[in-house]
Amino acid sequence: MNLIFLGAPGAGKGTQAENVSNKYSLPAVSTGNMLREAVKNGTEAGLSAKRYMDAGDLVPDEVVIGILKDRIALDDAKNGFILDGFPRTVEQAQALERMGVNIDKVLNIHVADERIIARMSGRRVCSDCGSSYHIEYKPVKSEGVCDSCKGSVELRDDDKPETVLARLKTYHEKTAPLINFYDSRGKLRTVEGQEKIEDTTRLTLEAIDS
Ligand code: AP5
Repeated sequence: MNLIFLGAPGAGKGTQAENVSNKYSLPAVSTGNMLREAVKNGTEAGLSAKRYMDAGDLVPDEVVIGILKDRIALDDAKNGFILDGFPRTVEQAQALERMGVNIDKVLNIHVADERIIARMSGRRVCSDCGSSYHIEYKPVKSEGVCDSCKGSVELRDDDKPETVLARLKTYHEKTAPLINFYDSRGKLRTVEGQEKIEDTTRLTLEAIDS
């Protein structure tokens, strides 16, 4: 099974991708996490990506498509995968089609912009493994320490309010057109994001089975 999680920044794609990944034993592939890892490691791709990410803009298609192609060619993705944050432009979606990747369902997690802005200020992420938390909705067990790998849990660089607004603008301009793209292919399932993570997970699993 190949799934895509679509939605605005902070809609809960990563959170739901992780829950579905655990349930179906499919790898969750987050281009955002891969790019942050590249930035942290100071690779050439990471250095060129950083200025786009800091500005709330998208990293150029050719860079992200290359990273994604290499990732889904790995052994653990042979029986399926969950894409979190890819595709983000129609060009990226067309590139997936050109690669011959069949997508079973596209889960579009819908959350209003006002709620997104409030949510992002409470998000904390592990700087080592990328696990995502929220100070209110999904707190870590021990202050500042990742439950999974004991790494350091911090505010993400691009979660500053002004960058969040830029990311939302980018989403509406460049990514939202994918809703029609996948709807016209009969793949789209919209999930209304709920206040509680487990409620969204329940609706997401129902949408996958529908
Ligand atoms: P990326 O890391 O993909 O960021 P994003 O899409 O902006 O998504 P987020 O990770 O911010 O949010 P999410 O929807 O995963 O929400 P989460 O589950 O964490 O990309 C970062 C940057 O990399 C981009 O800006 C771009 O520059 C670049 N990039 C990445 N992919 C690219 C691509 N394909 N092409 C070009 N550039 C690319 O949830 C958010 C918070 O809310 C968390 O704290 C969570 O605990 C909490 N939460 C989640 N669900 C709920 C709920 N139901 N109720 C309450 N709280 C909740």
